[in-house]
Amino acid sequence: MNCKHLKECGSCTLFMPYDEQVKLKLDLVSENFGEFYDGGFEFFTSNSTHYRTRAEFGIWHDNDKISYTMNHAHGGKLCIDECLKVSDKIFTIMPKLLSKISENDNLKQKLFGVEFLQSSSEVLITLLYHKKLDESYLNDIRNLADALEVKILARSRKVKILSDELDLKDELNINGKKFELKLSETAFTQPNKAINEKMISWAGECVCDSDDLLELYCGHGNFTIPLSFKFNRVLATEISKSSIANAKQNCQINGVSNTKFLRMSADELMSAFNKEREFNRLKDIDIFDYNFTHVLVDPPRAGLSKSVIEFIKNYENIIYISCCMDSLKRDLKHLNKTHKVLKFGVFDQFANTHHVECGVLLKRF
Ligand SMILES: C[S@@+](CC[C@H](N)C(=O)[O-])C[C@H]1O[C@@H](n2cnc3c(N)ncnc32)[C@H](O)[C@@H]1O
Repeated sequence: MNCKHLKECGSCTLFMPYDEQVKLKLDLVSENFGEFYDGGFEFFTSNSTHYRTRAEFGIWHDNDKISYTMNHAHGGKLCIDECLKVSDKIFTIMPKLLSKISENDNLKQKLFGVEFLQSSSEVLITLLYHKKLDESYLNDIRNLADALEVKILARSRKVKILSDELDLKDELNINGKKFELKLSETAFTQPNKAINEKMISWAGECVCDSDDLLELYCGHGNFTIPLSFKFNRVLATEISKSSIANAKQNCQINGVSNTKFLRMSADELMSAFNKEREFNRLKDIDIFDYNFTHVLVDPPRAGLSKSVIEFIKNYENIIYISCCMDSLKRDLKHLNKTHKVLKFGVFDQFANTHHVECGVLLKRF
């Protein structure tokens, strides 16, 4: 990657042509997971630049001048004027935003961070402040949003000021079929849209002889909605309130009627299945009435808790999407006592870094 901040900026850690990165990641995956899987690892490549549809930067103040910052590769902060990993649209907006903010003391003072989120419908820029914001900022924020043709959200402790109503929707194209998903500005979204579509399609290919699906860590229904068409019924759970609210709307938007979304942590759901606790949220639903042929998990970096592993071990097919090789390896050490790995996909969500996203299909012996 022809980046002027290469090796100084801590965000990228692989400095080699993309085909060599692919080889390195494949070697890394075979070294780590060869003990669980003797088949071929499928690798899904990404664009090596301009692939990120969400990104966060710090802001550095030097007298009147402000700059974007990233963590320096050797500690501390590094001022940067561009990042080649962000989408073309975010890349174009970044300098314009900085220049507009520089001209306006109100917007500039105490600004400490900027987040970009690009959906198919719009770009949202969140400005993070270390000062009390009030409605007097609204005009400045609206003018900035109009000038850049984006939506702006300014945030400080307990205060949010929005330039205009948000309409964050992503259009996914999964094997020619289109889905429209409403996103939340604060909750998780997959950072690399093209790779996300490949992961969903891959997960769909893991499904055969299906009846019902249980999904944990479902977010706003990124996998759930496209996969719901392959199942009789779906039960999907997630801890984030805003993600679940969007997931429910996403059912309506996409005409999905066989899916129930529940806001529950994975461990709460386990206590409900183990009949250790009763939940008001479950009063209208019989979780024991499902015939789960497949379980899909896409946990955060920490991976699965012991109780989740103990529970999902009982099911025929497990589709495990993981963004952390260490926790995946730890969890496969348990799951491979009851299940065999049938398929292993490697998704290059984060080109130019050592991070690897994996998809594993496990089948009970
Ligand atoms: C890697 S994201 C995947 C989200 C979704 N599958 C997607 O593709 O957008 C992990 C999700 O787990 C949720 N989460 C984190 N801790 C959780 C917990 N203890 N129980 C349930 N969900 C949790 C997060 O809110 C986040 O939406």
